[in-house]
Amino acid sequence: MGAATSSIQIEGASAEDGKGENIWDVYAKEEGRIHGGQNAVTACDHYHRFRDDVAMMKEMGLKAYRFSVDWSRGLPEGRGRVNEKGVRFYQELIDELLANGIEPYLTLYHWEMPYELYKCGGWMNPRSVQWFGDYAKLVAERFSDRVKYFFTINEPQCFTGLGYLTAEHAPGLKAPVRDTFEMAHNILKAHGRATQMLREYGKQKLTIGLAPTAGMTYPASGSAEDIEAARESLFSLPDLPVWTWNVAWWSDPVIFGKYPEEGLVKYEKYLPKITDEDMKLISEPIDIYGQNIYNGKCIRMGKDGKPEEVKRFDGFPRTAANWPVTPEALEYGVKFLYERYRKPIYITENGISCADVVSIDNKVHDSNRTDFLARYLRALKKAAGEADVRGYFQWSLMDNFEWNKGYSERFGLVYVDYQTQERIWKDSAFWYRDVIKNNGNNL
Ligand code: BGC
Repeated sequence: MGAATSSIQIEGASAEDGKGENIWDVYAKEEGRIHGGQNAVTACDHYHRFRDDVAMMKEMGLKAYRFSVDWSRGLPEGRGRVNEKGVRFYQELIDELLANGIEPYLTLYHWEMPYELYKCGGWMNPRSVQWFGDYAKLVAERFSDRVKYFFTINEPQCFTGLGYLTAEHAPGLKAPVRDTFEMAHNILKAHGRATQMLREYGKQKLTIGLAPTAGMTYPASGSAEDIEAARESLFSLPDLPVWTWNVAWWSDPVIFGKYPEEGLVKYEKYLPKITDEDMKLISEPIDIYGQNIYNGKCIRMGKDGKPEEVKRFDGFPRTAANWPVTPEALEYGVKFLYERYRKPIYITENGISCADVVSIDNKVHDSNRTDFLARYLRALKKAAGEADVRGYFQWSLMDNFEWNKGYSERFGLVYVDYQTQERIWKDSAFWYRDVIKNNGNNL
């Protein structure tokens, strides 16, 4: 059990020690893009405080920590010239984690496209496959003597959908639908290429996966029909134009080496050229399957024999981000994914945003978070009876830069006072420490 973060969201030091610009550095400078005109220039100042932060993780008993490398910190132009100071930062972080008995899990891409590569088309450019592969080679060469676990890409659903369809995230474009399928294909190839490069240049036997997302589904009842309806619905494909939030278009090619039939028909006129060679690259074998899971839809079998969503009642439990609280997503989502893909599963993210405040006693009483995590972890325990669940990363270790929402959403176990950078353990952090200590037996 561990916790997760990502580079842009916590590091700060966005223009220090030779780091290049990424699309978020640029996006945040533009007025009206981010809540309150905020940016990630300082964020949680983790770049300077990482030793204290690791000490905090140790005190919490975290066994594992998932973080991401900012591509433009190691390669300021995204390719070519290496920024040794940037590489050193991650080496020191990794050493610190290991010295404190915490297993590092490294994500290569958590939305940090170097701006110089974006200028060349970013994921639209077929050469992005090579760029990402070369970056993975550097990661393997410099970090894999110490890091064994790697996730290539975080949530392609989000950074293509929010970045290029709805324009809520960097780079903030409303691209033609065709472009997004072109990008998706390149992203999947880049994942395959990175997997190859990590293996080829890895300094030990590495465990490699990816970390997609998508809303899960769960059945309205325990009946075989409803369960089948939920399963079918989880792997079905949405209508255009906002198509990216789904499981099958991204994960089927990686695991099975082919795109789902339903999508090949539904999306036909928007698809790029897809060759057998592409599919071979995309399906380069991976060792583990990561999935970020936050919630799911309740599904039942309709009278017409088709799955239908059960409407949520008024006042349904919701997080501060207005996301529904549906612990069943962690039970059925995990079972369905395992049934289909048959890979050891990691929950690479799961958590809740709450309206946390520091109370009069200087503590943060986030009972909603503890309740949320307890419910979700109990559900995961149920799934673990049937699926090979290898790990769970709570999102997030500490409050951080929540993308276009700036600092207005707090997902952390630890409260961050952005004026002083003081870290204050929320009640849920103490609770999580006890859960880890008891290996989940007190849930
Ligand atoms: C992302 C995180 C994000 C979290 C909460 C995921 O979509 O990977 O970066 O902070 O969910 O929104």
